[in-house]
Amino acid sequence: MSLGSSKTTYKKIVLCYSGGLDTSVILKWLQDTYKAQVVTFTADLGQEFADPTHFKVIEEKAKKLGAVAHYTLDLKKVFITDYIYPAIKANALYQNVYPLSTALGRPLIAIEAAKIAKKEGAEAVAHGCTGKGNDQVRFNVTIRAYTPDLEVLQPVIEWGMGRDDELKYAEKFGIPILKANKKYSTDENLYGRSAECDILEKPEEIAPEDSKEWTVAPQQAPDIPEIIKIGFEKGIPVSLNDEKLEPISLFRILHDLGCKHGVGRIEQMEDRAVGLKSRETYETPVGCILIPAHFELEKYVSTKNENAFKYLVDQRWTQMAYEGLWVDPLMDDLNAFVNEMNVKVTGWVKVRLFKGSANVVARQSPYGIYDLNLATYDTKSTFNQKASYGFMDLFGLSSRMGFQTKSRMKSDGKK
Ligand code: ARG
Repeated sequence: MSLGSSKTTYKKIVLCYSGGLDTSVILKWLQDTYKAQVVTFTADLGQEFADPTHFKVIEEKAKKLGAVAHYTLDLKKVFITDYIYPAIKANALYQNVYPLSTALGRPLIAIEAAKIAKKEGAEAVAHGCTGKGNDQVRFNVTIRAYTPDLEVLQPVIEWGMGRDDELKYAEKFGIPILKANKKYSTDENLYGRSAECDILEKPEEIAPEDSKEWTVAPQQAPDIPEIIKIGFEKGIPVSLNDEKLEPISLFRILHDLGCKHGVGRIEQMEDRAVGLKSRETYETPVGCILIPAHFELEKYVSTKNENAFKYLVDQRWTQMAYEGLWVDPLMDDLNAFVNEMNVKVTGWVKVRLFKGSANVVARQSPYGIYDLNLATYDTKSTFNQKASYGFMDLFGLSSRMGFQTKSRMKSDGKK
C-alpha cells in the first residue's frame, strides 16, 4: 500500500539521491520530519563519464548530511543492454523526436532502489520528483510493483516548499549547494541530457546556448562532413568503422562524435503522462545517430507488411516506456515481437554527421529484401512490367468504385 506517507515516523527510508539541491534537502527533511534513518542510493548511468570523482563527492555529501549508509551502483552496462537496446530495436522516439533518455533510466533506478530497501529492511523509498512530471510515475509504478509492501514517499509533494524555501532550508541545515546558480533543471545519463525551467518554460523563446552543455552549435561544427559506419547484429549496434566495440565504449565514442558535429539537439512541446504540456529540450547525440541507422536497416530487411505493423508496435512500445509502464506484461509481449523482427537486423549503415544532422547515406545486409535485377531502371530488369496492368486494375478497383459512387451522390445533390 502506498498513496503517499501514512505515518508520522519511519524507522528507515531509502532515498534515491542525486547529490543536487532537491535530494539533499530531502535527505535532511526525512530525518527531521520522520525521525528516520536514511540510506542514500546513487545510480551511475554514465551521467559523469568524464569525472570519476563525482560519485565519491556525492557519497561524502550524503554521509555529511546524515545518511546512515550510501550505495553507488555502476549501472551503465545494464542500462545500455537492458533498456537502451530494446529502445533502439523499437526505434523509440516519443512524439517522433525524443529518444527517451531520461525515461529509460528511471525504472532501472527504481528496481535497484527497491532491492536496496528490501536488503536494508526499510519501510519506504523516497525520491525527489515533483507531482507534475513523468519521473514520479516511472518510480512509483516500478517500486510498488517490485515491493508492494513498501511506501513510496514524495517529499516535494508533501512539504509545499518552493525553490526559495528550499534554499533557505539548505542554508539553515548547512547543506552545501554544488551548483547554486543552476538555472535549469537537468537530467543526464550516457544516452542523453534534458534541460527544463527558467526561460525554457517559454515555448516562444529560442532555447539559449547556455542550456546546452554537450553539443557544439551546428554552425560551429566542422565544415567537413564525417561518415561513420555502424555495424548491427540482431538489431544491436556492435561495431564502429569495422571495429568491434563493447557497449560502453561504443556509446562513448558515438557520444563524442555526435557532440562534435552538433547532433542531437532537439526540443518539443511534449505531452506528459499527467496530461500537462511542457516545452522540453534535449541533447541526445547517441540516440539521434543510432535510431535512424537502426530504423533504416530494419526497413531494408523487413517486408512492406512487417514495416507497416512494426510502426504501430514501436509507437505503443514508446508510449509505454515514456509513461514508465515497464512492469506491464504488455511490455513483454511487445518486446517479444520487436525481438523476433530484429533477428534479421544485421548489417551495416553509413551515417553522415554534418552540422547538426545525422543522415543515413548507405546500408548493407546479408538479409536485405532488395534485388538489383528487379529494382534496376535498366531494361535488363527481370521485373515483369506488363503484369502491372493487371495489378493496378484490381488494386485500384474498390477505390475507383468508391470515388465514382461519391461523385454520383454529389451530382444527385445528396452530398
Ligand atoms: N520530459 C522528459 C521525460 O519525461 C525529461 C524529464 C527530465 N527531468 C528533469 N529533471 N529535467 O523523460
